[in-house]
Order: sequence, then structure tokens, then C-alpha cells
Amino acid sequence: MDRITVSATIRDTAHVTAEDYRRLYEESLNDPEEFWAHQKERIHWFTSPQKIKNTSFSGDVSIKWFEDGILNASYNCIDRHLPEKENQIALIWEGDDPADDASVTYGDLLLHVSRMANLLKSIGVKKGDRVTLYMPMILEASYAMLACARIGAIHSVIFGGFSPEAIAGRLDDCQSDFIITANEGVRGGKVVPLKANVDRALDILEESYGKSVKKVVVVYHTETETACDPDRDVNYNAVIGTLEDTCPAEPMNAEDPLFILYTSGSTGKPKGVLHTTGGYMVWASMTHEYVFDYKPGEIYWCTADVGWITGHSYILYGPLANGATSLMFEGVPNYPSSSRFWQVVDKHKVNIFYTAPTAIRALMREGDGPVKATDRSSLRILGSVGEPINPEAWSWYHRVVGEERCPIVDTWWQTETGGILISPLPGATDLKPGSATKPLFGVQPALVDAEGHFLEGATEGNLVMVDSWPGQMRTIYGDHERFKQTYFSTYEGLYFTGDGCRRDEEGYYWITGRVDDVINVSGHRMGTAEVESALVAHEQVSEAAVVGYPHDIKGQGIYAYVTCVEGCTPDEALLKQLIQWVRSEIGPIASPDFIQFTPALPKTRSGKIMRRILRKIAENEYKNLGDTSTLADPAVVDSLIDNRLNR
Ligand code: PRX
Repeated sequence: MDRITVSATIRDTAHVTAEDYRRLYEESLNDPEEFWAHQKERIHWFTSPQKIKNTSFSGDVSIKWFEDGILNASYNCIDRHLPEKENQIALIWEGDDPADDASVTYGDLLLHVSRMANLLKSIGVKKGDRVTLYMPMILEASYAMLACARIGAIHSVIFGGFSPEAIAGRLDDCQSDFIITANEGVRGGKVVPLKANVDRALDILEESYGKSVKKVVVVYHTETETACDPDRDVNYNAVIGTLEDTCPAEPMNAEDPLFILYTSGSTGKPKGVLHTTGGYMVWASMTHEYVFDYKPGEIYWCTADVGWITGHSYILYGPLANGATSLMFEGVPNYPSSSRFWQVVDKHKVNIFYTAPTAIRALMREGDGPVKATDRSSLRILGSVGEPINPEAWSWYHRVVGEERCPIVDTWWQTETGGILISPLPGATDLKPGSATKPLFGVQPALVDAEGHFLEGATEGNLVMVDSWPGQMRTIYGDHERFKQTYFSTYEGLYFTGDGCRRDEEGYYWITGRVDDVINVSGHRMGTAEVESALVAHEQVSEAAVVGYPHDIKGQGIYAYVTCVEGCTPDEALLKQLIQWVRSEIGPIASPDFIQFTPALPKTRSGKIMRRILRKIAENEYKNLGDTSTLADPAVVDSLIDNRLNR
């Protein structure tokens, strides 16, 4: 499809026009000090920073923004909007059941967050402590995050789909003594036993790591009773009414940690990505306002879960820093029907809607009917995030959902980047379906070849960032060495994103996907190494290799090649057991779509698994395997192809 030019209606009221974009982008590169000294004003500082940027991608890699500034993220999301926005709705909650909804004003948000903050203090949480959240998409999840920020505790949110094993590993990694959870979550009519998972995680924490936590706060979201350890568990609903409803916002240095969020890499266990306070807040606020062209009074809905970075930056911190009304959705796109998203849009008169390509593709498969049964006339801007969006899905989203009226902002970014780095701006950028288009202010992308040489003009290569931006992660919690190794050692002095990318003649960026051993399943990021180590932890498995393959709905699916131990004859029962095993080791999002049992894996003579070949076979491209001359035993490949799963 051709380019779609900026609509006059959008442009005439937009925060940023094409002319503004050119001017400000240039200014942000030529004079970052001046540009960010101005942008920092969007945040309330108890002490305004004098030092703006102090960053180095070389040597020990040190990233500091606004380093002498003092602020508080919760204050910026709540108090600073008062009393003007006392009665404006801050958060709308839409339950899994269409009959359930609620909303909270900025005035009420202050009370809820202050009480939660006082509860945390009363159980012994102090500034700098790590508090783990394992929550469903309920208002209390946002109270908990903001309460941590209010008292200077560092939250570590774990997505509700992760298993007890995964929770235990993360609790151990950041030495967290406190957990906030709910008795149960509900999604698509199904119950998620969150508290039971936490209890199991705590058993594992003790058995495998010899550790325990001090307190577990339990929010009762459903009627179901759960097991309770009276010395350890605190019933939120029972105590919250007894707590003071004021709590001062702790003055935090701009570089004090705000949160840790675990994400997968190509090797090893998940990394605790650490974000700090000042730069992150400036970035979340600026990108939310410009990318979504947010105007006061608009209803904004990001469908992500707060367990992912998108939920952190674009349900909570960005929108609330801007005094927006942000919608939080507990449910799923197809429950009770495939019209659900659009019914919610109509019910709450949503103006800006931000979701993932996997949801678009799943809904597209149901045809236009469920969309057309709804009105959607409130919609003004549509957004996409998490994985490349194929032009077909893009066009359907644009034509059917947005009725060709709403620009689509295809936003490229990562857990590590804190917020959006490459995206159209609705009033400034002509759109090309499938392209994340242009860098935001202060963002300097470049494409390099395998040796790190810069590639100019229209070309394809690996995507790096040449310089820092305020929202960038600062380190991997507790492992700065791994931080340097992961992001700054592939190309000296450059931040390596792990993504491949094409740039066209007009300087538009087209992300092609990961070039490392990370796969993206339904927008969920997964390390193939993690799934492999889960598989080999099973007693019948001797070796495993996991690769991604193209999947119509999920973007990528998980294909596992498994070699069993001597004497084991793999069968249907073992296959089912292994899938269940991975679900319990990591979580349902890591379930392999296919497991191919094989007597051996293709290896080089030095014993390295040749993943390139495994990828090709999984993609059904086995006729085009490339160079196989370094294989130790070429017969292995023939046998893999002969026995490849019939798909
Ligand atoms: O490969 C890119 C893909 O998602 C990766 C980051 O995943 P995560 O840290 O989980 O963050 C997801 C939400 C920001 C990236 O390295 N990705 C994200 N957005 C896009 C994308 N790929 C193409 N287009 C996008 N808009």
C-alpha cells in the first residue's frame, strides 16, 4: 500500500507538525543540553536539576540524566495534578466481565496510593527495598506500583502468566523481601490462582535458594478464600481502611531506581532491567504526549498488562504524568466475543487505542463483522507495539477499525529503552504500513554490518543507538558487567538493540525482527536458551534446541528439537508431559507449539549446535539450508528433514 499522508484534521491541532519535528529533532541532536533542559520542565522537581546529560557508552558505561535533580514519580503522577484534577478520572477499570467496571479520580487516587504506601511502611518496607508485584489487571496493581514509588521502594512486577519457578528465580535475583499479590485473577472467564502460585514460589525459594520473604500482601479480588500464613500474609481488604490516607512523597534523586523489570535475553536467566526516576519520567511523559498526540480530557487505552514495560510506561507512568485518563482492562480481546475491544471503546468513548499486532491478527481472522457491529466513532489515534506489524494487519487495522480516519502509530521500543524510540507522530509523519518510520527526539539510530561498520543511506543491517536518551535502562540489577557485555560489547561504544532493520530512501526504519536468540511470541519476548534449559531439566531429556518459526497469529511460534536420554522411547505421552513441564517451569507463554524428537542435533565439528539449519527446517525451508559443509554428521540433517513435523 502507498504512503498515507498526515490528515489535515489531525495536523491542525497536533502537538508536533512536520515542521516542528524537523526543527526539534535537529535541536535535540545539536544541543541536547538545551533541548532536555526545556523538556525536563514537563516534570515537577522538588529540586530542579542543573546537570542535564552525563552519559558514556564506552569503558564502564555510565548513564546519568538530570543527576542532581530531586523528584518523586508518584507525586508527578498524582499530587501535582491536584487540586485542579481532583474530580477528573485518572484510571478507568474495565473488568473481565463486561458488567464490571470502576473508575478512580485523581483525588481518590491520592487516598488509595497513600493508604497502600502506609501499609507498605507498616510491614517494614523501606526506601530502596525491592517489592515484588504479582497482580492481575486491577486498580490495586497501579496503587501498589505508585505506593512503592511514593516511599522510594523499587517495584519488580512479574507478569501474572509466569510460573512459581519463574517467580522464585526473580525473588532471589533481586533479594525481594515483600510481595503484593491477589487471591485470584480472572481472564477470559478463567481463574488464575495467583496466591497459590506465590505460595508454591515461596516453597521453591526456600527449597532451591534457602531464602524466604518477610511479608505477602494479598488483595482479595474474588470471593475465593486462599490459604493464609498468619505470620506472613496480610489481608489488604481487611486492613486498608484502618490506614492513614496521607503519606508524604519521598524525595528521590533522579538516578535513584524506580523499578526493576525482568526480560529475556539470548543467554542465561532473565535480566533485571533497572530504570531510574528522573530520565524515565521525562521520557515516559514526553513520548506519551507526542506519540499519541494526547490532549487533556481524552480517554486513552493501552491494552497491555502492567506486568510488561508497555503497561509501566503507557498505562501508568506516562499517561498519569500527563494528567490523562487511562483505561486498564482486565480481560482479553475475544471474551465474551470478538467485539469486546470495540465494545469497550464505545462504552468508555476511547479516543486513543494502543494494542499489539498479535491481537489485531487474531481479530482480523474473525472478519469485519465483530468490528462493524460497533460504532468506534470516538477513536482518533491507533497504536501498535511489541513486534513487527505485517502490512496486511496494518491495513485492516487502518481500514476496518479506524475507518481510514485514524493514523496508526507503529511504535518500536524495548523493555531496555524505557519508552518509545522510533514511531510516527500523528500530526507530523506520513505513514507507510509496516514501518515504525522515524526516530523521536534525541534518538540516534544507526545501522551497522556484522563488523560494526556504519551503513549509510537505504540499506539493511543491525540496529544500534549511537547516543543515550533519558529513558534508557541504567544497568542490569546487580550485574553491571552483564549489562556492558549484553548491550555494549558487540559494537564498541554503541547500544546494540538485538534487532535487524531496513532503512529506505526516505530514512524510514523498518524493523525486521530479532537477530539474536530471542523470539517474540505474541509480543512476549522469550529467550530460546530459557526454554531449552527448562526442557533439559526434565529427566528424560538429554539435549534441546529451540527456535522460532513464522506463525500467522502469534508472529512467531516455538519449535523445539529434543533428544532423549539413552533408553527412552519418546511418545505422545512424553510430548504432552514436556509441554506441561515447560509451562510449569516458565509459564504458559513459553509452551512449545511443536516438539520434534530427534536422535541427534546438527552440530559443527567443534560441537556447536547449528541453529541456522534448525530454523530453516522449522520454517519448512529445508530445500535451502545454505552451507552445511561444517556439519560433523550431515546424516543428522537428512533425518531431521525426513521426520520433520507435518505442518
Ligand atoms: O524485536 C523488537 C520487538 O520487541 C522487542 C522488545 O521486546 P520487549 O522488551 O518485550 O518490549 C516490547 C514492548 C516495547 C524489540 O527488540 N518490537 C517491539 N516493538 C516493535 C518491535 N518490532 C517491530 N516493530 C515494533 N513496533
